[in-house]
Amino acid sequence: MSKKKVVLAYSGGLDTSVIIKWFIMRYQYEVIAVYADLGQCRDAEKIKEKALKTGASKVYVQDVRDEFLDNYCLPAVWAHAVYEDNYYLSAALSRPLISKALVDIAKAESAHVIAHGSTGKGNDQVRFDVSIMALAPEIEIVAPLRRWEVNSRAQEIEFAREHNIPLEITKENPYSLDYNIWGACIECGILEDPWQEAPKDVYQLTASTETAKAEPEYVELSFTKGRPTRINGKELSLLELVEELNRLGGEHGIGRSDMVENRLVGIKTREIYEAPAAYILHFAHAQLEKMVLDKESLHFRQVLSHKYTEMVYNGLWFSPLKDALDAFFAKFQLQMTGTIRLKLHKGNCMVVGRKSENSLYNYSLATYDEADAFNHKDGESFCKIWGLPLKVMAQNKSQK
Ligand code: ARG
Repeated sequence: MSKKKVVLAYSGGLDTSVIIKWFIMRYQYEVIAVYADLGQCRDAEKIKEKALKTGASKVYVQDVRDEFLDNYCLPAVWAHAVYEDNYYLSAALSRPLISKALVDIAKAESAHVIAHGSTGKGNDQVRFDVSIMALAPEIEIVAPLRRWEVNSRAQEIEFAREHNIPLEITKENPYSLDYNIWGACIECGILEDPWQEAPKDVYQLTASTETAKAEPEYVELSFTKGRPTRINGKELSLLELVEELNRLGGEHGIGRSDMVENRLVGIKTREIYEAPAAYILHFAHAQLEKMVLDKESLHFRQVLSHKYTEMVYNGLWFSPLKDALDAFFAKFQLQMTGTIRLKLHKGNCMVVGRKSENSLYNYSLATYDEADAFNHKDGESFCKIWGLPLKVMAQNKSQK
């Protein structure tokens, strides 16, 4: 009888390496490792080699950066999905994509089990499990760290040594880092004390206000139907553009945040985030929207953004309501063509100019100069009618 197969979301790190061995030893499973390249800057060949050495029978390495930006990050910009004001959802957006890759490979390999390295107290387990359930209800999901007795890093290292798992001899990283092209999430270690300022070595992508460039820099960011297409007039692919904004924003210390956040599982945690490109893109898109969208659409978009963000954070990416909301936000993008002029300086990203062929800004209505085309007399009648209900109430009160 052939061995049962498990498809594992593999990162190349200690947790998922140990998991490969665990499946082989405990269940005699055949392990197929899947590494999704989301821009983590790790050497794909080395990762492949390590997974095979650890015992995987096969390794898939997939460069999913374009798909991630096009189908996950860009819709999040359109929806203005920012969790609790500061988190641009870099990890949350990646999990449904990784889940989809795992399901596709599991189907192609006729594997009946999918595994991931999440622990039992985070959000990521929910995002993986729920996405996989929504895409392939017949597949069994196993997260060994939720079941297994080995739960400290020291124990894992001991297990790895005992079972000849190649350990990278790198400086012990005291933090838990989740990093991709849309941003970095950093927690654990000293960060677990919310009163302690994050040490300098926490930050991976951005300069501090002290070390950021002294001189401000102007950047013109252009959108075509909602899609960012040019920096300072130069046409770039979305991947190139995001890489360039990460570099520029990083140099000017943009997109950092230090927050205490509400996890779905009921725990508050402290996390440091860095997302220079995501921050700049969200900010510039919002500035364009202010110029182009009518008031009712903009205000209602803001109401739905809150719901959308919660759904993404809470793992409901593959759900009918999330899809319908995507269609709602996408509709407005047809108008979203224009250029936003930004000034980046010492951690600040400021808007200093905007233009759009679809602008609803009307100079002759807005101006206080002679060119003023607004009939001020209309203002008087408008105020009378707008305030009428309040006037009636006040009259009633004074008569009593
Ligand atoms: N709190 C973030 C989320 O729930 C990030 C989770 C992963 N963070 C980490 N440092 N490993 O999406």
